Amino acid sequence: MVDRKTIDEINEKTDIVALISSYVKLERRGKNYFGLCPFHDDNDPSMSVSPEKNIFKCFACGEGGSPLRFYQKINNVSFNESILALAEPLGIKVDLKVDQRSPTTKEHEVLEEVRIFYEYYLHNSETGTTALKYLEERGLDQEAIEHFNIGLAPQKDAVYPLLKEKGFTDTEILNSGIVRLSQNDYRDFFNYRIMFPITDERGRTTAFSGRALGDATPKYYNSPETSIFKKGETLYHLFKAANEIQRAGNVILHEGYFDCIASYLSGVKNTVATMGTALTLEQAKLLASYTKHVIIAFDGDNAGVNATLKAIDVLNRINLKIDVLIIEDQLDPDDYLKKHGKKKYLELFKTNIQDQYQFIYETTKKTLNLKNANDIIILKETTRKMLTKASRLVKEIYLKRLSKDINVSLSSLQDVLKAAPITPPPKPLKKKKTRPLPLKYYRAENFLFINMLKDKATANRIEQALGGLYVCDMDMFKLRSLLCFKFYDKYDEFDEQIFKGIIEQEKDYEPLLDKLNEILTSVEFKSQFIYNEEQIDGFIEVLKQINTEKKYRSILKEIKDQNESFQKALLIGQQKDYKIQLTKNKK
Ligand code: GTP
Ligand code: MN
Repeated sequence: MVDRKTIDEINEKTDIVALISSYVKLERRGKNYFGLCPFHDDNDPSMSVSPEKNIFKCFACGEGGSPLRFYQKINNVSFNESILALAEPLGIKVDLKVDQRSPTTKEHEVLEEVRIFYEYYLHNSETGTTALKYLEERGLDQEAIEHFNIGLAPQKDAVYPLLKEKGFTDTEILNSGIVRLSQNDYRDFFNYRIMFPITDERGRTTAFSGRALGDATPKYYNSPETSIFKKGETLYHLFKAANEIQRAGNVILHEGYFDCIASYLSGVKNTVATMGTALTLEQAKLLASYTKHVIIAFDGDNAGVNATLKAIDVLNRINLKIDVLIIEDQLDPDDYLKKHGKKKYLELFKTNIQDQYQFIYETTKKTLNLKNANDIIILKETTRKMLTKASRLVKEIYLKRLSKDINVSLSSLQDVLKAAPITPPPKPLKKKKTRPLPLKYYRAENFLFINMLKDKATANRIEQALGGLYVCDMDMFKLRSLLCFKFYDKYDEFDEQIFKGIIEQEKDYEPLLDKLNEILTSVEFKSQFIYNEEQIDGFIEVLKQINTEKKYRSILKEIKDQNESFQKALLIGQQKDYKIQLTKNKK
């Protein structure tokens, strides 16, 4: 990250007239220069440049700011990249690593066209009128709609022919994720939804989120992860907020799109959103390259509080200053603003900010009964954990507070400061070594699952045929069950985001997500080839066979361990049955 002083220095030393002149023809009028604004369709010079203040401003579209801002906007680069670019000719050394600029791909171009179309459709269609009314009711004005590039997806499919007309190939269109192939038809990914374009750090559209206009479920869903969109590495509104984040010296981290927008409308413009999922380390690192101070402003309900505790944990892994905005009445920022208004909301930033220690300590304490010894231990342990990286001063403050709250002398709390946990972590259970099965079984299981993803009827048929068999891989077994019993019981067509959301509700979801991602990126999944029933039955047979084989093996072992002769005889009988089945299957 670059400090405020260096950024000011770069802005001050860059000649804004010279900079802008290399992109736009400027004419002098009095103290200022004027030119056609490159950021909107301008035919009357509406952009003024002030050499005195070293800023530019467009009176028509509102764009404006420092030389860095101009450079960032005109070149579509991240804020950090513009710092590097402008610092160099000035001989200013900056300690900054930025990712190699990846080229704009066809997928970016596809999505940019779609973004423009959705925006146009919002403003120029009959359904658009309804959508605009919805947005207006939610408090959005024209400026906000434009700033966030909000659009509308039509009820009827429209995107594919539009993109073909623009000359994109089927592969380019499908790879962008905005059109999907369903029974040989090119279908829009979104129908009749308010569209929020999601951009990367450089302002390129990489995905969309669509919100239902009414109570349709799901409320939101995203276009799929692609080569240019990884949800866990993206923060909503980061590109447009970059300057404001620098100016404010901190970033406000929200959960939802509307929270971000409502904050922006109230004047808090240094906002980004995690888009509902738990903050990832990648997102935290991304933030850290813009600022060292994060103010978490999640929903005020229990889920929001828990998400805040988790986010603090993640942010602490990279040493950031963390504050939390406390929002009362279980409201999310958007609802709070609606209910209490802008003035009250802005006041919260003065009266309702807690540092991370205060937040963790108070929230934990609130849920505990400090007359109960078990609860006391919880508070002590939470305090110990929270203080491991804290400064001496903070440690002292919280030890005193803890000593008072649990009525124990300071000296006997010394162990709280020790880094070692009070109870040793449980030893990881040794995994039983199982002999890996032949590869063909895993392949059969994967193929079947891919077919389950492609078609609901096939999915149910396979699940029924396997009768809930745990075949080769426990994770695959769980994925199959989740797909049939938690996803397909509500939806008819596979949706990556929704399904991942369902998986994330599970306790040990990470290996499941890994497995799913492996499958979603496999050639077999991406190919349009669909197996026929007979082939699928073939795979099912392969899997049934492995189950028999497994049973056979386990009976062999049981026979070995069984001393009682009658039981042994029974087992040997069963073993023979399985053996017959196995030889039959092999034929
Ligand atoms: P509004 O009702 O429009 O104000 O949304 P919200 O932001 O209050 O919704 P909520 O607190 O439920 O969700 C917070 C954020 O999570 C949303 O803004 C979305 O980014 C995301 N989100 C919510 N529901 C879904 C969903 O069903 N699918 C996906 N992919 N994302 C969701
Ligand atoms: Mn909301």
